[in-house]
Amino acid sequence: MTNNIKFNVQPGGKLTGIIRVPGDKSISHRSIMLGSLAEGITEVEGFLEGDDSLATLRAFRDMGVEIEGPDQGRVRIHGVGMSGLKQPSAPLDLGNSGTSMRLLSGLLAGQELDLTLTGDESLSSRPMRRVTDPLAMMGASIESDENGTAPLHIKPVKQLKAIDYTLPMASAQVKSSILLAGLYADGETHVTEPAPTRDHTERMLNGFGYPVETHGNRISLKGGGKLKACTLDVPADISSSAFFLVGATISPDSDLTLNHVGMNPTRIGVINILRDMGANIEVLNQRTVGGEPVADLRVRYSPLKGIQIPEDQVPLAIDEFPAIFIAAACAEGETTLTGAEELRVKESDRIQVMVDGLKIVGIDIEGTPDGAIIKGGQIGGGTVDSHGDHRIAMSFAMASLRASSPIIINDCANVDTSFPGFVELATKAGLSIT
Ligand code: S3P
Repeated sequence: MTNNIKFNVQPGGKLTGIIRVPGDKSISHRSIMLGSLAEGITEVEGFLEGDDSLATLRAFRDMGVEIEGPDQGRVRIHGVGMSGLKQPSAPLDLGNSGTSMRLLSGLLAGQELDLTLTGDESLSSRPMRRVTDPLAMMGASIESDENGTAPLHIKPVKQLKAIDYTLPMASAQVKSSILLAGLYADGETHVTEPAPTRDHTERMLNGFGYPVETHGNRISLKGGGKLKACTLDVPADISSSAFFLVGATISPDSDLTLNHVGMNPTRIGVINILRDMGANIEVLNQRTVGGEPVADLRVRYSPLKGIQIPEDQVPLAIDEFPAIFIAAACAEGETTLTGAEELRVKESDRIQVMVDGLKIVGIDIEGTPDGAIIKGGQIGGGTVDSHGDHRIAMSFAMASLRASSPIIINDCANVDTSFPGFVELATKAGLSIT
């Protein structure tokens, strides 16, 4: 699907000043989910008012949860307890949001409700068997279409049973889906992941007073407990910060500070990778806020060199590769990415879409089944298609800082899924974008 929102970005410029990007998307989703199931009122600050997290918020309102706000990032959730959700009158439309659909599948699998989860064209083509298969082993009754895609139809079941499941891929969404179903299971659910992935679900469950144990890559919780309402301060999203980290790194004379950025160790792959390439990123004022590490990041221009991206960093930077590809295009030499086949099933096929876009602006890049080989060079100009993928659109906007002529980016409406106000904030920092 295309739409008529285009970014037109003038070449050159630099990024300076002090900014705060919107709240973390992953944490915002989870705040609504756990706050709704808790007993008492959960107060959230820094909530991301983007289409994806708002889709989660609306879904819980549709299931009878009273939620005040969002008002400048403040949300008050009147929790209904573990079994207080009500039958909605219509299918739950989750828009573009994979996190909503996969996590809700688990959370809702053990409710006595009859539910249909739908999404937009992109979400309706993304793989859901990765959650419906393990949930079926737990006794859930979830129907998808014959390709294993949405809409998902969840039928009521009385009781789920715990499983001991090894994830076939490093996916926090699948891990979280099973853990959330595990809250409703008889016995102790165990999930083993092939590599560490974001652990916001585990941290937040603990914050709501629900014991979750992690031993190495194995996470365990017992079903049948309760969640106690709490207060949450959502840090700025490191994934949204990543565009600015790359933008400032590639544009001479840049000196930009990003405030209050979430620095969860399972999310900082982008900083590790950019530093390996030669980026100058200072981590300042490290602190812990509501169980999550937070810091201010000062980033200044620095010439980059191509690297072989370490595979152990891939799950820790999984959403940041569109931006990292732009950094690689500006680096001296070749950057190689392997072990990142998951990029092919994100909001778009991010390997293919970045390869196509970077070729259009004159970069020598080759896609591989699980990554790409990118040769640094001069970024030209041209018209690229984001394929409705927010992170592709914002990455090419940053590429303009090093381009020789304007870059026009098609199909940008979905930037609002994760980064409402991107154009205004990027303009404030120094990008010439309309
Ligand atoms: C997310 C997990 C990641 C990430 C997505 C958000 C989450 O997906 O790409 O944007 O909040 O759990 P996978 O777990 O499928 O890699």
